[in-house]
Amino acid sequence: MEKKNIDWGNIGFGYIPTDYRFVSKFKDGKWDEGELTTDPNVVLNECACVFQYAQTVFEGMKAYTTEDGHIVTFRPDLNAERLANSAKRLEMPVFPEDRFVDAVVKTIKANEAYVPPYGSGATLYVRPYMFGSNPVIGVKPADEYQFRILTTPVGPYFKGGAKPITIRVTDFDRAAPHGTGHIKAGLNYAMSLHAIMDAHRQGYDENMYLDSATRTKVEETGGANFIFVTKDGTVVTPKSSSILPSITRRSLIYVAEHYLGLKVEEREVYLDEVKDFAECGLCGTAAVISPVGKIVDHGKEICFPSGMEEMGPTTKKLYETLTGIQMGRIEAPEGWIKVIE
Ligand SMILES: Cc1ncc(COP(=O)(O)O)c(C=O)c1O
Repeated sequence: MEKKNIDWGNIGFGYIPTDYRFVSKFKDGKWDEGELTTDPNVVLNECACVFQYAQTVFEGMKAYTTEDGHIVTFRPDLNAERLANSAKRLEMPVFPEDRFVDAVVKTIKANEAYVPPYGSGATLYVRPYMFGSNPVIGVKPADEYQFRILTTPVGPYFKGGAKPITIRVTDFDRAAPHGTGHIKAGLNYAMSLHAIMDAHRQGYDENMYLDSATRTKVEETGGANFIFVTKDGTVVTPKSSSILPSITRRSLIYVAEHYLGLKVEEREVYLDEVKDFAECGLCGTAAVISPVGKIVDHGKEICFPSGMEEMGPTTKKLYETLTGIQMGRIEAPEGWIKVIE
């Protein structure tokens, strides 16, 4: 298959339309068969539930080319499960998890020409999403829905290597209230827009959100979970019912324990103890792990010993092992890699 003529090393994280997207419609209590379409536009009634009451959920995953030339995606069953949980919380019908995986495979295959080559650092970002599509005016769930998958090639997250970033502790809440922080609903991201723009205006790369009840415990950032390393090499990651259950974090925990023989603690992490950690990173699909050099808590600076120049040693080992698994250089645990072609 001939690849599109794209300068893979120089694309950013933006939307570049590809040839095909998947769409399945829910009407009269059931999902239709679904199909690939070439039309990137969605036409909806002005009163569609998604516009009025933000009834929309989504997922984010990637397809990439492995060292031996296969196109693969990483643990799509976990994205299917998380989308189902998000949908249930917003009173939306679940798109069956096996059909989700089939549709992801079909959409990636149809856009094979846009899957960046091995070694380019670029990947094909895959965005499954669902929304309430029929008009409602009283506050209630829609009766009709669309499940869609769009894809777009994205460039390497870090050009010229991962440089540690600076984070501030924020007084804003990341998610909409009522304990919805564990779902990937559009409304949570809308809630975070002001906080992230405010952080950028103040010169910070990201926000560290605290638990809204006591404001003493570390939750996550606007788009990634935290992972810390203690001075004696234990991996520590916050446990909370109001953070997004990151697939990258769950995979890193497994890698730490089973590939690197590290001790892992998933527990409540207090802001007060962050100063004692040796390394800090953010984990998510976009960058796998991005190192954090400094956290600023209302003017008080916490600097990690690994500094602002490069990843700490344990963070680096975790990063290299997980990306090695994803790119086919290291053998993956059973079921982690879904081969598309
Ligand atoms: C709020 C939030 N936390 C964490 C993550 C990381 O999750 P994953 O590793 O599944 O990409 C994301 C990624 O989309 C996110 O939006």
